[in-house]
Amino acid sequence: MCGIVGYCGYRDCSDVLVDTLSKLEYRGYDSAGIAVFENGEIKVKKSKGKLKDLKAKMEQCGKPVGKAGIGHTRWATHGKPSDINSHPHSGEKVAIVHNGIIENYKQLKEFLISHGETFVSDTDTEVVAKLLGYFYKKNPENPLATIQSTVNELEGSFALGIVFEDFPDVVYATRRQSPLIVGVGKDEYFIASDVTAIISYTKNYYLIDHDEIVEMKQDGVVIYDEYGEEKTKELMTADWDAESAKKGGFPHFMIKEIHEQPNAINMTIKPRIFDGMPNLEECGITRENIKDFKNIYIVACGTAMHAGMVGKYVIEKLARVPVVVDIASEYRYRNPIVGEGDLVIIISQSGETADSLEALKLSKKMGAKTLAIVNVKGSSIAREADMLIYTHAGPEIAVASTKAYIVQLAVMYLFAFQLALAKETINENQCRFLTQELESTPKVIEKILAEKLDMTQFIATKLISADSLLYIGRGLDYALSMEGSLKLKEISYIHSESYAAGELKHGTISLITENTPVIAVATQKNLLEKTVSNIKEVKARGAKVILVTREDFSVDKEAYDYLITLPKMHDILMPIPTAVPLQLIAYYTSVERGNDVDQPRNLAKSVTVE
Ligand code: AGP
Ligand code: GLU
Repeated sequence: MCGIVGYCGYRDCSDVLVDTLSKLEYRGYDSAGIAVFENGEIKVKKSKGKLKDLKAKMEQCGKPVGKAGIGHTRWATHGKPSDINSHPHSGEKVAIVHNGIIENYKQLKEFLISHGETFVSDTDTEVVAKLLGYFYKKNPENPLATIQSTVNELEGSFALGIVFEDFPDVVYATRRQSPLIVGVGKDEYFIASDVTAIISYTKNYYLIDHDEIVEMKQDGVVIYDEYGEEKTKELMTADWDAESAKKGGFPHFMIKEIHEQPNAINMTIKPRIFDGMPNLEECGITRENIKDFKNIYIVACGTAMHAGMVGKYVIEKLARVPVVVDIASEYRYRNPIVGEGDLVIIISQSGETADSLEALKLSKKMGAKTLAIVNVKGSSIAREADMLIYTHAGPEIAVASTKAYIVQLAVMYLFAFQLALAKETINENQCRFLTQELESTPKVIEKILAEKLDMTQFIATKLISADSLLYIGRGLDYALSMEGSLKLKEISYIHSESYAAGELKHGTISLITENTPVIAVATQKNLLEKTVSNIKEVKARGAKVILVTREDFSVDKEAYDYLITLPKMHDILMPIPTAVPLQLIAYYTSVERGNDVDQPRNLAKSVTVE
């Protein structure tokens, strides 16, 4: 959610800040701003809108010229997007950028007002700027102590970039809950919300822990712990390059990422398959240490939660262990019945989703073992969990998750196979066969991408004027439909619902008219006839039906208007290939409607606030 950056070096700081912020655009934002030291003075430029609006403003009124500064893209939480509410915000001799939410900002604001402070914006962030100024006045010349006193008063989440007027060309930073890294180049240093921002300058970086304080100058960086002691940190190296974060000839990141799925699956599963069998030992998972779990909870948000829905069906079917899937924001506030002997699986692409992170901490506190399935290395969720399986999708830039979802599914399968072996509910031969099927999914996806682009694009043209759509399916097809529906609504802005096909007649079927297209998913052999009956019910009420099914199934032509067939696989693996046409339909519908595919309105890539 939003992005912060900072720079100390030899280049033109304004240009570096705007460039690094542009790499964080994918996270979603509504305003942007920078603060740069120009001849020892802090110069602030900020604007509502996109980075191009900030650039236009700077072209008109001049950009600050200097070698050190901080920058921000804001995703408004407190106060509407406006020039005034944009960051940086200022206090006495200080300017800051902030990512996150200050939960006790009201109390702090009252306190500061009673001490004569005045406020110009509606943000929670300005309270931090004024509080820094308040402590700085008491202890001038000591920025470190000022920052410590300030963050001691803060409740909530923050990553802060801070500059003090009396300390030209020095950038300070700190964090709690919200992510922050320090990039280490040659004679130049960076702060950023994630590595994507700085990868074209350097691959080396430090991960900053909660309440650590960074002091960055052109000739070096010092990191202090919460007690002000200097810390030695491990220098990390990103194992991907700037090219991976570019569009590579595709018109949008989303379609590029859809095409990267075969490779992402290979990268994720190959290192975990030995001699044709799943092996998750490098992730701390052995047959021995998972065989006794009685209950499994899968807790996540959005697309990651939908991957968990598929996981539930697969684990229950193969390993016969009951699985509850929960939305993280619900789970954490409903006093869940979870404890010793239970396994809680947290799934997250970013590894920074605030609700998922808190759900993880809560589960640990209640005595459950935790397993994180995470894409971003070294992220908070990855660091917090007892066991960890990284997905290797590479950087996912489009807000709408595609390749991260596919690899989350792939990991769900590997884990389910391993658990089923441990529980002895499948034998080695069955496991070998299923693992082989999983290994064949990249090829199957390649075939779909080679053959189905035109058809899905054509179908999109039939959907663009619909007000509302239904996705229906049973069993695994229903779990998958949930993701198809979310994908469509988040980027096309067309309302859609996903429904268990058998449930329609209990109410929802009354929504069906000629203007309500239905996307029916039918890939499960034992459910085919039942689903086809439900499809016929909607067809009889005038709906145009797009049927997604398998090449080896024969379905009465009367049942559909448009047909997408997929290569045959074992029923249980069908969600992986089936996800692809659903992603493509959503993508092309968004393109046809002229939407901003990669940065849909109101959404952020990484949701680090509740
Ligand atoms: C995906 O298309 C979404 N925009 C969103 O639902 C996302 O999956 C969710 O916010 C969870 O994010 P995470 O995987 O980074 O935790
Ligand atoms: N809460 C702050 C605001 O509304 C920061 C939001 C963000 O993370 O961009 O300005």
